[in-house]
Amino acid sequence: MAALPDRLLIRRPDDWHVHLRDGAILRAVAPSTARVFRRAIVMPNLLPPITTAAAAAAYRERILSAVVQSDDFEPLMTAYLTDTIDPGELERGFTDGVFTAAKLYPARATTNAEAGVSDPARIAPVLETMERIGMPLLIHGEVTDPEVDVFDREAVFIERHLQPLLERHQGLKVVFEHITTAEAVAFVEGGAPTLAATITPHHLQINRNAMFLGGLRPDAYCLPVAKRELHRIALRGAATSGNPKFFLGTDSAPHTRSAKESACGCAGIFNAPHALESYAQVFEQEGVLERLEDFASVFGPRFYGLPLNGGTIELVRQPLQVPLMLELGGEGDSLQPLVPFQAGETLSWQIRAPSS
Ligand code: DOR
Ligand code: ZN
Repeated sequence: MAALPDRLLIRRPDDWHVHLRDGAILRAVAPSTARVFRRAIVMPNLLPPITTAAAAAAYRERILSAVVQSDDFEPLMTAYLTDTIDPGELERGFTDGVFTAAKLYPARATTNAEAGVSDPARIAPVLETMERIGMPLLIHGEVTDPEVDVFDREAVFIERHLQPLLERHQGLKVVFEHITTAEAVAFVEGGAPTLAATITPHHLQINRNAMFLGGLRPDAYCLPVAKRELHRIALRGAATSGNPKFFLGTDSAPHTRSAKESACGCAGIFNAPHALESYAQVFEQEGVLERLEDFASVFGPRFYGLPLNGGTIELVRQPLQVPLMLELGGEGDSLQPLVPFQAGETLSWQIRAPSS
């Protein structure tokens, strides 16, 4: 058997789904993303949500002031769809280069989704506009019907909403975000080339048992919630298959300690500090490390119709101990430590210095 490589040079990657938040948390977490990823699709679920091009442009400036100036990081901004959003505002924002895409949260599906869409069928004029101008629609694919079991909400969303939406808008580019089930994998595989999906490192690494390992583990709780092992296996198959419909989106979603450890704890896993290393571990375990570059750096930009990044990033095989907590608060910020994904674990790859 050939010896395993101990270094891996790949084209600079992008993160096609991240939560950077605002204020002190933004200043704390944005450098972790900008250190590794050249671009990132930034989620708009702030309070209040980003629904105008002016708000997105101002948020982009705050992000750029939060990252290390020498990083050539480019935040790609998204609009938050509501029942009443003006299609004209979306179109202007997209043609002016402020919005890269728009995000559909079913109302109340997750963090700050209260203002989300009550029924995707009700925003048909918005989706028609997006279809006409080639603006991608990013979907949080879960029903919010309390009668539906939490673990079935993604699969039911496909039947009730996604399939009909794609039939109504056959030219619309759609990213089914952070997929978590074998049903979603099969649906995307069988769909048109205009349908793709992002896959997070945590859904490749954990199944639902992680939330109950010796007690209740809020750090393993995110939405869509991790599912049974068979689903994790299907996701690993999809991510490492070389199929261009599946690409990297971390869904890194930091919350303060008190927001995670609470009687009603927030959903979200903060994986930004070691996301690429975590993906590398998965690709290595699956025996296809050579496919990491396409997943991380090629399939996303191709789907979005954006140029591939220049520059490279080097991964080296060296044990990386993930800290139990990260004290990320900058000067003047009294931020609680954040617990990173895989805290206390040892990963097998580390990033050497990125270069552009
Ligand atoms: O786990 C999640 N956290 N899932 C989401 O959809 C939202 C995100 C957040 O903003 O915290
Ligand atoms: Zn998200």
